[in-house]
Amino acid sequence: MGTHKQRTRGLFITLEGVEGSGKSTQISHLAKVLTTAGYRVLHTREPGGTATAEAIRHILLTASSKERVTPQAEALLILAARSQHVTHLIEPALQHGTVVLCDRFSDSTLAYQGFARGLDLAWLRDANDVAANGLRPDLTLVLDLPIAVGLARRRTDPSQQNRLDRETERFHRNVRRGFLALAAKEPGRIKIVDANRPPQKVRDELTAIVLGWLKKPRRSSRRPS
Ligand code: TMP
Repeated sequence: MGTHKQRTRGLFITLEGVEGSGKSTQISHLAKVLTTAGYRVLHTREPGGTATAEAIRHILLTASSKERVTPQAEALLILAARSQHVTHLIEPALQHGTVVLCDRFSDSTLAYQGFARGLDLAWLRDANDVAANGLRPDLTLVLDLPIAVGLARRRTDPSQQNRLDRETERFHRNVRRGFLALAAKEPGRIKIVDANRPPQKVRDELTAIVLGWLKKPRRSSRRPS
């Protein structure tokens, strides 16, 4: 418990972005800043976060190219991992008043499996609601940058590349288009942050947005009914 008055229910913040946007470094920094500011923080990621969900992540990111993972199998595995993660880690943390910082969540499913893989968005939304048990992020930050810049960053370190990183440039352009379209539809929840800048500048903007947003007065429950 920190210096801030603990709210009944925690807040759920997600970070999203295309490959090479620097998301993971930025979220680690944000977790430190919030902890120092007195918030109880859980830093987690998707797919993953629990033992079963991390095992599913391993399958998703390392599956052999000899047996193509179908878009449907990919989506269902991601949603299975989300169900484990929400039930066993995220929901209990929110119930304890923790600020949950999650590296990717449902918007990635819409951007990657919907906009890029071409699965039906309405079906994905419904299936996601089942997997997430109706949980939606309170705030989402999309780290945006041109695909060529993000992929070039990843290519300098091939050991960091996973099965999805190796998709075509067109695929990644569609992912980016997806995130921008989702943000345009929900400007209240989804904020776009320009990640094509020195990391320190991105850090400062993210910190300012999140701290400013956490201090805003709000009703105690943000669960959709
Ligand atoms: P990461 O590289 O940011 O750790 O994410 C792992 C990969 O999983 C990344 O290539 C995006 C992909 N992914 C999806 O395709 N759909 C999803 O819903 C999530 C959460 C991740």
